[in-house]
Amino acid sequence: MDADSAEELHNSPHEKKSWPDAKPTTADYTSFENHPGYLILQRRKAEALKRNISIPFFLTNDAANSNNAVINGRQYINFSGYNYLGLSGHPQVTSAAKAAIDKFGTSVSASRIVSGQISLHVELEKVIADFLGVEDCLVFVSGYNTNVTTLGHLFGRKDLVIHDDMAHNSILTGCNLTNAKHMTYPRNDWDKLQQLLSRHRGKYQRVIIVIEGTYSMDGNIPDLRKVVEIKKRFNTLLMVDEAHSLGVIGEYGRGIGEYFSIDRNDVDIWMGSLSKSFASCGGFIAGSRPLIEYLKFSAPGFIFSVGLSPPDTAAAMAAFQVLQNEPERVSKLRSNTEFFLSLAHEAGLDTGMNNGAPIIPIFVGDDLLCMQLSKRLFDQGIHVQPVIYPAVKHNDAKLRFFITLQHSKEEIQFTVTNLARELSELG
Ligand SMILES: Cc1ncc(COP(=O)(O)O)c(C=O)c1O
Repeated sequence: MDADSAEELHNSPHEKKSWPDAKPTTADYTSFENHPGYLILQRRKAEALKRNISIPFFLTNDAANSNNAVINGRQYINFSGYNYLGLSGHPQVTSAAKAAIDKFGTSVSASRIVSGQISLHVELEKVIADFLGVEDCLVFVSGYNTNVTTLGHLFGRKDLVIHDDMAHNSILTGCNLTNAKHMTYPRNDWDKLQQLLSRHRGKYQRVIIVIEGTYSMDGNIPDLRKVVEIKKRFNTLLMVDEAHSLGVIGEYGRGIGEYFSIDRNDVDIWMGSLSKSFASCGGFIAGSRPLIEYLKFSAPGFIFSVGLSPPDTAAAMAAFQVLQNEPERVSKLRSNTEFFLSLAHEAGLDTGMNNGAPIIPIFVGDDLLCMQLSKRLFDQGIHVQPVIYPAVKHNDAKLRFFITLQHSKEEIQFTVTNLARELSELG
């Protein structure tokens, strides 16, 4: 199960948790056996078992997460990882991480504000700021925590955060942490967003719109130019989460800003993850010097947490360097994505809201059917995860294919052929 689905299993807007019918006793509150979330999990596992469906989550991979995975000794064509550019496992990235361990050890052993800062942190932040064309950058130990602590910290009682109705859980959690009001609009519905702003902009001091550079459930790239126009009209701030767009879209992999050729300063907060294209772990915020300095001295998830580990920092920096030296990696990824999409469309498969990003949903509908389809493909050596309720609404299940530049045309062809056949057999 990937990070998105794992979060959503226990924190889904589609599932209401409730106590079992009997009135809870004190014992229910002093152990986890009757925790409502745990009971729901057990019920869902039992339902799957009854229908002879093995749980496709937490499979153990014995290799780098690339176009292939090795599970229980068998090699699979793998569409379940975010190693878009093939940089996790790349020799230059691996040796940079090893050299960093030799020099700095495996941990920086303190928060950066006290004694945990190493030269690699400062160098990586400069590399990212230059890559994006902004003044400064700050790296955090987790991409998820980057959103949580940034949103949780920057906005207060008199502010408003607006995001779409399917925003990533890290954005929702950040909103829940603030004292700011938050409101949602249907994804990509710019008229609704403007109606919301017309009605509410005047009641708040700071208002921030948060969008994602590529929506990770659908491979959908939102119209950033339109959002910039709206933010200017209503005098708001804008944050873009580039977890699944940096390294992936734009001619040189510089993300949605490059894709739409917008002025970098039109976005106030650029957020990114180091765990997708950049072969590491952690996240960052990039933007103006005052924004970064303020976060650096005060964001709780930064100052009360350890600095990014030396191998993670070095790996991310090497990944940025490889990408800058080899921009053709991005076009190879694009070509694989286009190939997959063209075959899928030829076969009449429904790729939903995908508009060109290397995350390709194949709409199935029924949860059970989706699990069966995933299992059938797995038996044929293809590893792709089902996205089912409660990660998505009932009867909205899909298989989600993450494309990497490492996939060969033959692997893609084999996969789509089998996918189309199995789906039609399952009806
Ligand atoms: C849109 C989005 N933001 C943030 C994150 C969190 O990033 P990380 O997995 O690096 O913690 C994810 C993770 O998949 C994501 O999809």
